[in-house]
Amino acid sequence: MKKLMAANWKMYKTAGEARTTAASLAALTADTLPDDREVVIFPQFTALSPVADALRHAAGYSVGGQDVYPAAEGAYTGEISPGMLMDCGCAWVLTGHSERRHVIGESDELVGAKTAFSINAGLKVVLCIGETIEEREAGRLGEVLKRQLDTGLAGVKGDAVPAAIAVAYEPVWAIGTGKVAGPPEIVEAHALVRQLLVARYGQPGNAIRILYGGSVKPENAREIIALDNVDGVLVGGASLQADSFSRIILA
Ligand code: PGA
Repeated sequence: MKKLMAANWKMYKTAGEARTTAASLAALTADTLPDDREVVIFPQFTALSPVADALRHAAGYSVGGQDVYPAAEGAYTGEISPGMLMDCGCAWVLTGHSERRHVIGESDELVGAKTAFSINAGLKVVLCIGETIEEREAGRLGEVLKRQLDTGLAGVKGDAVPAAIAVAYEPVWAIGTGKVAGPPEIVEAHALVRQLLVARYGQPGNAIRILYGGSVKPENAREIIALDNVDGVLVGGASLQADSFSRIILA
């Protein structure tokens, strides 16, 4: 199983800046990307085509949207469809990122609808889940992960997995805070996610990649991706500079 090294550029970078960063990243890693690594860049919408263009000849690289709406087209002002993302060169989309759940107010059900619709339309999905610090301290980790996975995957049929889906475990308290979850916390949560995926899909659940996200840096990436059930990382802040993200990709 290839490790999936994903960069979430959030609402940073103009289209030109994103293209330059993507081109630098490809130049830094093109000859050294190991066979067991796959890279996905999630830029903001106006940078999708330029980044896809910059990475066109970079083997092992693909591009994804940070959000999507579960309809092919229609009167949904401000939204974007899976087909429109694919038209810009996307192979992937993120659903359920904690900033969309907690800042924008997306429900578990909407995340589930986006996930199923995108897969049916031909995109691969990184479904993000994770607990807040209050939920963790109240001993609700298992319950939150189960609820977010159950509703997030409600419409995703067994025959679509594992190729079409990856799950990113991102504890909300570790995102953008510099507070990385410790190895025991990551191993515990990833084992729980693995159990839930196997309970849901049987043996194919073992082949679904589970990524860790939350303050991953060049300094801690190697240790994190070596942990049990960690099949890649989803990186925000430390993915914005080509040099920093290249060191994570090659960690
Ligand atoms: P961070 O963000 O690496 O800046 O903590 C991770 C994410 O939001 O996906």
